[in-house]
Amino acid sequence: MSLNELLKEYMQKTPKSASHYEKAKAFLPAGVSGSAKFSKPYPIYMKSASGCKFSDLDGNNYIDMMMGNGVCILGHANEKTREAVKNALDSPAFSFLAHERELMLAEKICTSVPSMEMVRFANSGSEAVHMSIRAALAYTKRKKIAKFEGHFNGSFDLLLTSTAKIDGTPENPIPALHWAGVPQSNLENVLILPFNDIENSVALIKKHADDIAAVILEPVTGFMLASVPCDIEFLKAIRKITSENEIILIYDEIVTGFRLAMGGAAEYFQVKPDMQAMGKALSGGYPIACFGGAKELMEKVVTPTREPSDLTEKIFQSGTFTAHPISCAASLAVLQELEKGEVIPYINSLGDYMRTNIEEIAKKANCPVQVTGCGSMFNVYFSDHAIKNKRDAMKADAKKRTEFSMRLLLNGIYLPDGKPALLSYAHTKKDLDYVLSVIEQTLNMIET
Ligand SMILES: Cc1ncc(COP(=O)(O)O)c(C=O)c1O
Repeated sequence: MSLNELLKEYMQKTPKSASHYEKAKAFLPAGVSGSAKFSKPYPIYMKSASGCKFSDLDGNNYIDMMMGNGVCILGHANEKTREAVKNALDSPAFSFLAHERELMLAEKICTSVPSMEMVRFANSGSEAVHMSIRAALAYTKRKKIAKFEGHFNGSFDLLLTSTAKIDGTPENPIPALHWAGVPQSNLENVLILPFNDIENSVALIKKHADDIAAVILEPVTGFMLASVPCDIEFLKAIRKITSENEIILIYDEIVTGFRLAMGGAAEYFQVKPDMQAMGKALSGGYPIACFGGAKELMEKVVTPTREPSDLTEKIFQSGTFTAHPISCAASLAVLQELEKGEVIPYINSLGDYMRTNIEEIAKKANCPVQVTGCGSMFNVYFSDHAIKNKRDAMKADAKKRTEFSMRLLLNGIYLPDGKPALLSYAHTKKDLDYVLSVIEQTLNMIET
């Protein structure tokens, strides 16, 4: 069956999503409230979700392999989170005055994440990452930020470079400006580094060391380079060179925080950053993210004193909705569950189960795939070479990956094109055995 035939079947199964899309696109560009939610020919619109499953407007049921981009680590409509949110409805529905839950949450986070001695909250991952960058610029009084090619560090201007596109050579990538509306002037202060390439990354950092305020990286990449982990020796080398040059090392753990381990990738890989930004899994599905680091750094550039020097020494970090009581209540409920110590080892073991089995299935089907990821994150690339960075990923067969996703979707499994799987506590071996059986059929059908 060709991709066109698969699309026809998709359209037959989803007429209500199709008509919703026709209405929605009159008011919402592409019928969605965020470009990443759009897919061709139109997205499926969800109706309800529970456990590891959701239903669309047409009543089709799906096993969700992405769990709201990883936010529902306990599962959709988790009872503990719902209860906490219901209880929080009695508290004031605003957060401009400081309140008790924000301290309770801050204390829990700082106890769980060793590098975060102090933390501040934000409304989204993008905002949390942006604020950590701002703090690093203020602290070091330097002007450049180094980021890795293919890494997505949120939607703010400075980091929206070399995410979906690349430029320069593998050894010496240069910033690729590709989204409209991002100022060209961005490029002057961004240094692009090759991921998982010790020699060239270290050489570039050394060359620009006096100007670099921070090196930011996703220890396991999420959405522009689905599920590619850093090599441990690479991470150690980046830690070493940044320490030697007094550069702030920031882990963008919006996806990996409270997922790979309570202390995020920093704990999982046992390599400590200076700052971390965390979001998704922390949130239980409600809008909240956080960033933080050593007390000395946070006090120097984040903590206000209400003295005139604030205007020259401190960053501006605030927001009407930051640490909203409802989001804090949801996060506290999530962390209380994670602290019991069962969830993360369980979902990590499911990740191992999936990677091992998909590799075996692919071998039997004689289908050259690379199964990437670690912990509860994985992805399938149609490639006969290892995937270590964006350039490797761009050489994989994108058409086959599209067909793979569409065949899964038509069999009730949601793992969109080019996106990572992010498992949850609500997934069972039975759910995943069904997913594996469909993957087996699919890999046997995809022509190699
Ligand atoms: C690694 C990473 N950083 C930052 C962000 C931005 O987070 P948000 O979408 O909450 O703004 C994302 C979102 O997917 C992400 O994957």
